[in-house]
Amino acid sequence: MALMTDLRLARASRRRWLKLFGAAGAAAFLLPVTSREAFARPVFSDYPFRLGVATGDPSPDGFVIWTRLMPRPLDIEANHGMPRQPVEVQWEVARDETFRDMAAKGTAVAHPELGHSVHVEVSGLEPARPYWYRFTAGRERSFTGRARTLPAAGSRVARVRLAVAGCQNYEQGLYTAHQHLAREELDFVYCYGDYIYEYRGREVYQDRSGAILTSVRRSTGDELHTIDEYRRRYAEYKMDADHITVSGPICDVVQQRGLAASARPL
Ligand SMILES: [Fe+2]
Repeated sequence: MALMTDLRLARASRRRWLKLFGAAGAAAFLLPVTSREAFARPVFSDYPFRLGVATGDPSPDGFVIWTRLMPRPLDIEANHGMPRQPVEVQWEVARDETFRDMAAKGTAVAHPELGHSVHVEVSGLEPARPYWYRFTAGRERSFTGRARTLPAAGSRVARVRLAVAGCQNYEQGLYTAHQHLAREELDFVYCYGDYIYEYRGREVYQDRSGAILTSVRRSTGDELHTIDEYRRRYAEYKMDADHITVSGPICDVVQQRGLAASARPL
């Protein structure tokens, strides 16, 4: 009975979340914002790339690179330390980790409606090889990430090395497995879901066997409902240094249960 109640609540939360997200998404497409209206030389109150960088969705000639400007990731009241204006972000993709041999570069606009995230679809690259990428906003520079293009269609592939990850509950363990993944020469990481958990932060929890265990660390805030609360929780997970290191070649994130939809009695 308690589980049924939880399920109903979870479904209501999910609808609410989708409604909020939908409204924000629609606003983003309606706003006539151009790069000329964006801050070209922003000055931040703190390091704005604290969530690191990420890449995914590879193809033979490119991939997506991502980051988010968030100088104060856990401070919702202060809008995470960002102005409510668009901000210009420069991006670079190179053939070497020193960025001497540049393959592509450009300027993207981080919009406030999208939480100042930056999503660049890079194309025109060579297949089956590594690239290095980074972002710059004002005088601040992101960490360097490594990405990889897929082999050309129909080409012979001698070996594929991948890792599978999921259920990375921030409170129930440290990300030492991610640290190991970052040291492996992987072609991609397949993340099958539960990238975050939406519950209220808890000092203790009950595992499947019924044992009461102490959380290794506690998430900030109550159960997630608003998009700001979701962004703060994502930020909390992504700020972990071991988590940042593996924000590399994530190939496919199927976020089935991150939307307040997992109503398991754990
Ligand atoms: Fe899970």
